[in-house]
Amino acid sequence: MYSNTKYRNRLLAIPIFIMVASFNSGCTWDQVPLFGNGGDGIKDSVCYQNEIEPIISSNCAKSGCHDANTQANGIDLSNYWGVLEIVKPGSPDKSKLVSVIKGGGEELMPPNPYNPLTTEQISLIETWIQQGAGYNIDCGTNIPCDTTNVTYSLTIRPIIDNHCIGCHATTGTGGGILLNTWGQVADQALNGNLLCSVYQEGGCVPMPQGASKLSDCDLTKITIWVNAGAPNN
Ligand code: HEC
Repeated sequence: MYSNTKYRNRLLAIPIFIMVASFNSGCTWDQVPLFGNGGDGIKDSVCYQNEIEPIISSNCAKSGCHDANTQANGIDLSNYWGVLEIVKPGSPDKSKLVSVIKGGGEELMPPNPYNPLTTEQISLIETWIQQGAGYNIDCGTNIPCDTTNVTYSLTIRPIIDNHCIGCHATTGTGGGILLNTWGQVADQALNGNLLCSVYQEGGCVPMPQGASKLSDCDLTKITIWVNAGAPNN
C-alpha cells in the first residue's frame, strides 16, 4: 500500500513537470535564460518592466503628451499595448518608436524643450525590439540585488536618468524640482522628500508620477545612499 502511493506520486510528478516546462518555454523568455543575465555578466535580454517601461513612462507617457488622458496624436504610451502599436517586433529600423526618438526624418521625440533620450536609452530600446519586443515582466525578481559599492554616479544617477529626469530636467514639468545635478538630487535627499516620494507611503507626492513604484532593489540602494549623507561619489 505504501509503495503504491509512492509510485502514484511519481506518476503525478511527470505531468506537473511537463506543465512547468512548457509554461517556461511559452513565455517571452523562451530564447534566453530566465534571469536576463547569463551568469557571465553579459546582459543578453532586455526586461520591458525594469528597463523599457521606466524610460517610456518618464519621457513619453507624461501628462500633456502620451499619457492615457492626453493621447497626443492618438498615441497612448501609458501601457505596453499602446507602445506595441508603434513598434515592429524584431525590426527596430521599421519601428516608428525608434525613428522618432532618433529624429531621423521625423519630428524628434521627446520634442523641445524636453531632453532627447540618451544614446544608451535608444540602443536599449532597439535591443528590446530586436529581441521581439516582449512583455517581459517580473524578470528582475531573480537577479540578486547588489547593494555593495552604492555610489551617486554609478548607482543613483542611472536610476534618476531612467525614472525621473524626463520630468525633472526642466522646472515646468517637475513641479519646480530639478534633478539634473548631484547638488539638486542631494537637496531632495537631505530634506527628506526623495525617500518620502519614492516609498509612496504618504506625506508627500508619490514618485515617479504616473508610473510603477521603483523596484525594492532600487529603493534599497537609494536608502543606502541617503543614509550615507547623499555623498557626491
Ligand atoms: C511624469 C513626470 C514625473 C516623473 C517621471 C517624476 N516626477 Fe517627481 N514630480 C513631478 C511633478 C509634476 C511634481 C510636483 C508634484 C506636486 O507638487 O503636486 C513632482 C514632485 C517631486 C518631488 C517633491 C515631492 C513633494 O511632495 O514635495 C520629488 C522629491 C520628486 N518629484 C522626485 C522624483 C523622483 C525621485 C522621480 C523618479 C524616481 C520622479 N520624481 C519622477 C513629476 C514627475
